Amino acid sequence: MLTKPWLDPMIVLRPVTPENYDSALELHVTPEQERFVGPVMKSLADAFIHVGAEVRMACDDDLPVGFVLIFPFELDGKPVVNIVRFLIDARYQGRGLGRESLAATLDWIRSLVPRPQRVRISTLPDNEAALALYRSMGFEDHGMEEGELALWQSLT
Ligand SMILES: CC(C)(COP(=O)(O)OP(=O)(O)OC[C@H]1O[C@@H](n2cnc3c(N)ncnc32)[C@H](O)[C@@H]1OP(=O)(O)O)[C@@H](O)C(=O)NCCC(=O)NCCS
Repeated sequence: MLTKPWLDPMIVLRPVTPENYDSALELHVTPEQERFVGPVMKSLADAFIHVGAEVRMACDDDLPVGFVLIFPFELDGKPVVNIVRFLIDARYQGRGLGRESLAATLDWIRSLVPRPQRVRISTLPDNEAALALYRSMGFEDHGMEEGELALWQSLT
């Protein structure tokens, strides 16, 4: 049941801890969207295995609504970040929380040291909702890479 009006979402990205780990595992997309994004369990495993990868739970106040996995790396000697996974739980989609969570993710990435100069994101080319969101937030198409459409933006 919905317990918030979502008139004015206040997204905070919270680290995943032993205390909130179960809430993170409850975040799911619709069955139709499962081909677009790996499950939270896989993202937690990826973050454990890949040195430098980081996860955050997107919370509207205290309510967990989404999840993001990023991977900072160097490209041509410059720090960049790949947003590897990004999702809003199916119960909370279509309320502006994806836009707020992506904005919070970009703010977080800007705060990293060394400061990333560019950020990459990618998805399947028929993921219209995600692509519309990414393009509207300043990402530009950069062609197909390993079966996905890659998009980049420079960070100011
Ligand atoms: C993509 C996703 C994160 C969007 O989250 P959301 O909370 O529903 O998005 P918002 O309500 O903030 O909407 C933001 C924008 O996304 C786009 N969008 C969202 N739902 C859409 C839909 N069903 N069809 C087309 N565009 C859509 C629109 O551009 C929208 O902006 P607008 O409201 O000004 O038109 C969410 O649908 C999701 O988690 N999908 C499954 C996982 C996934 O595909 N992740 C990306 C691949 S890694």
